[in-house]
Formats: sequence, C-alpha cells, structure tokens
Amino acid sequence: MNLVGSLFGSSIGRKIIMALTGLILIGFVVVHLVGNLQIFQDPDHLNGYAQFLHQLGPLLWVVRIGLIVSVVLHIWAATVLTLENKRARGAEYGFKHTIQATLASRAMRWTGVIVLAFVIYHLAHFTWGVVQTETFKETPPLNHYTMAKDYRVAGFTVVKAGADVANVYNMVVLGFQNKVVALFYIIAVGLLSIHLLHGFDSLFQTLGLRNVKWSALVRKAALALCWVYFLGNLAIPGAVLAGKLQPHSAKVAPAVQR
Ligand code: HEM
Repeated sequence: MNLVGSLFGSSIGRKIIMALTGLILIGFVVVHLVGNLQIFQDPDHLNGYAQFLHQLGPLLWVVRIGLIVSVVLHIWAATVLTLENKRARGAEYGFKHTIQATLASRAMRWTGVIVLAFVIYHLAHFTWGVVQTETFKETPPLNHYTMAKDYRVAGFTVVKAGADVANVYNMVVLGFQNKVVALFYIIAVGLLSIHLLHGFDSLFQTLGLRNVKWSALVRKAALALCWVYFLGNLAIPGAVLAGKLQPHSAKVAPAVQR
C-alpha cells in the first residue's frame, strides 16, 4: 500500500489524519482569536485586518479550501474510528469496558456536532451576512468605515488611511448586543474549548505521549491553553454585553454598498 492508501486504509492512519487536521484547525482558531482581539484596539485595527484578509483574494481561497478539506477529513476519520471502536468493543467484551473512555468520546461527538452547527451559524452571521441583517447590512452608515490611519502587517502598509472599508468592528459589536446571540457564542466557544482539551488528550495518546514521565505537565499545559482560549473568546461578547465596546459611528464614509 502506498502512503496515502495506508493513511486512509488503516486505523493508525486515520488517527494520524485526525491529529493532523485537528492541529490545522487549532492553528486556525488560535490565529482567528488573535486577529479578533484587535477589536480591543481602535476600529482601524479590526477593520484594517478584515480588509487585508479580503484583499488576499485567491490566497484566502487556498486557506479556506484547506480548512474545508481539514473539517471534512476530521469528521470522516472521527466517524470511521468511532464505528470501528464500537464494533471492536462489541466483539471483544459485549459491554462498555471503560466508562471514562466512552464518556470522553461521547463528549467529543456532541461538542463536535454543536461546534459545527455554531460555525455554520457564524458564517451565516459574519461572512455571508444573512442573519441579523437588520442590525448591520441595512443600517448605513454603520456598515462602512473610512480608515483613519494605515493598517500595517510586518511593517508593510496593507490598507491605506482614507480607504473605504466594511465596518467589521460594528458588525461584531452590533451582533453581540443581541444577548441571545452573545450567549450562543459564549456557550459554543466553551464547548469548543472542551473539545480541544479532549482533542489534546487523544493527540497525546496517538503520539504515545500519554504515559511518559511529563504527561501530567503536558496535560496541565493543554488545560491552561484551553482556558486562555476560552477566556480570550469570552472577552469579546462579554465586553459588548458589559457595554465596554460600543458601535462606532464617527469617521464613517458615505453609505456605499460593498
Ligand atoms: C468571539 C468569537 C468570535 C468572533 C468575534 C469572530 C469574528 C469573526 C468575523 C468578524 C468574521 C468575518 C471576517 C470577514 O469576513 O471580514 C469571522 C469569520 C470566520 N470565523 Fe469567527 N469569530 C469568533 C469565533 C470563531 C470560532 C470559535 C470559530 C471556529 C470554531 C470561528 C470560525 C470562523 C470562520 C471559519 C470564519 C470564515 C473565515 C473566512 O471568511 O474564510 N470564529 N469570524
């Protein structure tokens, strides 16, 4: 069997696919959070950042396709491995032999399904703009913004002062002013953090790191990371609900549709 064949055709291969796609998705959510935290600077930062991403054009699509492929492979491998485990357990023991392992994998399934539903809602909300349209898309001039200063990445100006850009800052703030939406985001990122924690556990198991001397330390580091991730995500809807982040209506451009 060639490499691709053995990756897809064996249990250990599928575990490796789970681990690799999981790492890609963790990379995305961490970078996404760091980008989103720019909301705590001025609107130029988040709006300039969003404009910069949109300007990437085909490169953005390469990243998007990479993410879609990772999500599909992650779900496929998880499903096949779960079915195999169930069959093996049934054949060997005829009953659930480790309650803890069963609970953990059940938690992975449910948190995974809810996070996937959240991502679809999130795309409909912030990327496609087809939910909560009344609070953003149809209320110019709140949805447009003129950059007050240059937005720079690695020392290079990527969006110039005076550029007319979408007001992503307002989109997020207005979106989270709806308490139900904000609460949904908070619950979803909480579940995602639990999913990540169990994911780290499985990853360490796949890599054979579960029983080494420093495994307790590695687990503590994973727990700390998941908490930081959760609190970072909680901070954004939390700050909106607490009234610390307000829609920005100064320095807006005429209401031109994007
Ligand atoms: C408080 C938490 C979050 C905020 C404020 C937020 C904000 C945003 C915004 C503003 C966009 C649209 C960017 C644009 O098109 O200009 C976006 C896109 C996206 N977000 Fe989030 N996000 C959050 C959490 C998450 C989480 C937890 C996930 C994944 C589990 C996620 C996945 C995505 C994806 C996949 C996109 C589409 C990216 C693309 O256009 O290719 N987001 N988010």
